[in-house]
Amino acid sequence: MSPVKVGLLGFGVVGGGTFKVLAQNAEEIARRAGRKIEVVAVGALNVDTVRELVGDNVLVTSDAYEVVRHPEVDIVVELIGGDTIARELVNEAIARGKHVVTANKALLAKHGNEIFAAAHDKGLMVAFEAAVAGGIPIVKAIREGLTANRIQWLAGIINGTTNYILSEMRFKGLSFNEALADAQRLGYAEADPTFDIEGVDAAHKLSLLASLAFGIPVQFSKVHIEGITGLAKEDIAHAERLGYRIKLLGITRRCDQGIELRVHPTLIPVERLLSSVEGAMNAVQVNGDMVGPTLYYGQGAGELPTASAVVADLVDVTRLLLADPGHRVPHLAFQPGAMADTPILSM
Ligand code: HSE
Repeated sequence: MSPVKVGLLGFGVVGGGTFKVLAQNAEEIARRAGRKIEVVAVGALNVDTVRELVGDNVLVTSDAYEVVRHPEVDIVVELIGGDTIARELVNEAIARGKHVVTANKALLAKHGNEIFAAAHDKGLMVAFEAAVAGGIPIVKAIREGLTANRIQWLAGIINGTTNYILSEMRFKGLSFNEALADAQRLGYAEADPTFDIEGVDAAHKLSLLASLAFGIPVQFSKVHIEGITGLAKEDIAHAERLGYRIKLLGITRRCDQGIELRVHPTLIPVERLLSSVEGAMNAVQVNGDMVGPTLYYGQGAGELPTASAVVADLVDVTRLLLADPGHRVPHLAFQPGAMADTPILSM
């Protein structure tokens, strides 16, 4: 079959990473997806630089609509961010019958219900693994791995910037502003870092996780949000002396009255696993009624971890909806006959 054709909107850290992952692991990805996946168009502002990186066979344009309207594009990958132009582009992609993969938690937190409904009406997928906790496959874990469970609660460190700031304040005694500047330099922070430090980014992500966990619409506006700007080094040191670590947690819980949705700094006993999550790492604990506690840990931001999640969604869309039925491989770890000659080393 011909390759699945992808249009990338945005070629920053994650867009560039996505191109890299697709090229570097092309063979494995094609085997798992049941079809090759190929980028045919990129929408980016720095056209000349991107053209040098992607080569002459890819359309590179500063007009993002050209990518969305490209007749060959099957899947639009939205990595622009924000909820204005990105919203228009995603809606246009869906109207044109294209599947969407996005890392845009702000967009989905605010407009996800309308976007998911529009896609559903047309039999299209809007996949968003990269929108929550970067490289951790938490969306797939909740939606697929834990699907037999009634989820009771989940709690997670889902913003790398604030976790990095709290770690640096504790380990190195940096001030809040010094640690934030480091997080920005390392590329963890949002374009508007107030989204990180005020807890808004974590709330965007929490509203998506709660929707998956409890089957409710996305309800970002109902999240209680408190960030970390009021914390001083002394608070962190004082908590340590009492045997606690301060983490910004996103928490959602089923209770008698309904579902709690909250983001706030939380005291966690130092012996609990979540308290050992340092730097820009993320971790999410999910409790299901059948499975009990489960814990997911990994890099919550950055080029290749986030691109890993974007490409996982491209594979999902391909194997579930775009691969030839004879080549769909959703249930086997291996393709019959393939890789049978790989030597196995006995210890
Ligand atoms: N600003 C986000 C964070 C990026 O720090 O977690 C990844 O979503």
